Amino acid sequence: MNVEAVKIEAVKAEAVKAGARNVEAATVEPSEFGKETVLSARNLSTYYRTKRRVVKACEAVNLDLYRGEVYSLVGESACGKSTLGATLMNLVPDGTEVTGEIVFRGRNVLTLSKEELRRLRGTEIALIFQDPMTRLDPLMTIEKHFVEALQSHEPISRREAALRGARALDAVGVPPSRLRDYPHQFSGGMRQRIMIALALVFEPVLLVSDEATTSLDVVVQAQILHLMRSLKDRYGLAILNITHDLGVVAEISDKVGVMYGGHVVEQGTALEVFHRPAHPYTGGLLNSVVHMGTTQLSWIDGMPPDLGSPPPGCPYADRCDLESAECHRSFPPESRLSATHRVHCHRVAAGLAQGRDAQ
Ligand SMILES: Nc1ncnc2c1ncn2[C@@H]1O[C@H](COP(=O)(O)OP(=O)(O)OP(=O)(O)O)[C@@H](O)[C@H]1O
Ligand code: SF4
Ligand SMILES: [Mg+2]
Repeated sequence: MNVEAVKIEAVKAEAVKAGARNVEAATVEPSEFGKETVLSARNLSTYYRTKRRVVKACEAVNLDLYRGEVYSLVGESACGKSTLGATLMNLVPDGTEVTGEIVFRGRNVLTLSKEELRRLRGTEIALIFQDPMTRLDPLMTIEKHFVEALQSHEPISRREAALRGARALDAVGVPPSRLRDYPHQFSGGMRQRIMIALALVFEPVLLVSDEATTSLDVVVQAQILHLMRSLKDRYGLAILNITHDLGVVAEISDKVGVMYGGHVVEQGTALEVFHRPAHPYTGGLLNSVVHMGTTQLSWIDGMPPDLGSPPPGCPYADRCDLESAECHRSFPPESRLSATHRVHCHRVAAGLAQGRDAQ
C-alpha cells in the first residue's frame, strides 16, 4: 500500500469511528494534502436571467473543500457569496444558468435528480442560514421537528427519532429536557444551536453555513463558532462558512476564499490570506477591519461593480490604486504562490514572471 492509500485508509477509519454514514460507499479522492476531498468546483459560473438582464453573480470559480476543514468565503455584500453557496448545493432558482462542474464525494451534483439532491441535502449535506425562525415552524415542538426530519429520510419510530433529537441537542449544548418546547421559547442563539442540531442529527459530511451567526451578539456568536469548530474536529466535518465578517473568519477558518465581483480573487490558508495577502482587495478588506487598536477608520473608496454589466477586465480595477491599462482589458490569470495560495491579479502575475525571468 502506498503512502497516499495509507492516508486514505486512516481517513476512512477515522470517519467510521466518528460514526459517519456511507463511508465505504463514498469515493475518496486523495488531495495534494492527503485529505479526503469532499467538494470540488471547477470553472463554475452562475448567471441569473431576469426579464431585463443577465446577472453574472459567480464567474469561473475553482475551489476544493476537504474533510475536517473550515473554508470561509468572504467579501462585500452582493459579491456573489450566497450565490456560490447555493450553486454548490444546486439550490439556485429554476432558469438560472449554471456551467462548470461540481463534484461532491465523487458524484456530479449538477446531474443528480431532484430526489437524489433532496436526499443528499437532508443527510450528507446540511445547510444552516442566518435566521433560524424562517426555517423552524412556530407551531411545532422541537421534538416534532426532529421526528419529521428523520422520518422523511429513514424508516424510524417516533420514539427513536426523539431520542436521537435529544442526543443532538445535548451535543450542541441545549438541554434535551427542552425537546417539547416551541421555537419561540428559545433565544436567538439557542435557536441557531437547534438548527445546527437538526443538521447534525444526520451525521453529515459537509455543513454549509450562510451568515449563520450574523444576527447574533458577539458573545453568542463566539459560542456558536466555537461549537462549529469543535464539531468539525469531533466529526471530521467539512464546513463552508459564508460570511462578510472577517472576525468570524479569523476565529474558525483553515482556508479562506476572498470573493469580489463574482470571482474568487484570492484563496489560501487563513495564515496566507491574513498574513501575506497578495490581492489589493484583500489588503483593503483587512485594513478596513475595526479592532481594539483602531485609531482611524479605513475603507475602500468606490463601489463594487454591477454584476448585471460587469467590466471586461479585473472587477476591482476601478477601485485599485495599482491598476494598469491591462487591468481594464482582461481578467487576470490565476497565479499560484504556493500549493494552497492562489490569486488573480495582473500585478502578481507580472511579478512572478519577472521572478522567473531573473532566475
Ligand atoms: N434570484 C436572483 N435573481 C437575480 N439576481 C440575483 C438573484 N439572487 C441574487 N442576485 C444578484 O446576484 C448578485 C450576488 O448576490 P448574492 O446574494 O450572491 O451576494 P452576497 O455576496 O451573498 O451578498 P450579501 O453579503 O449581501 O448576502 C447580486 O447582484 C444580487 O442582486
Ligand atoms: S489586476 Fe490590476 S486592478 Fe486588479 S487587483 Fe490586480 S493590480 Fe489591481
Ligand atoms: Mg449572502
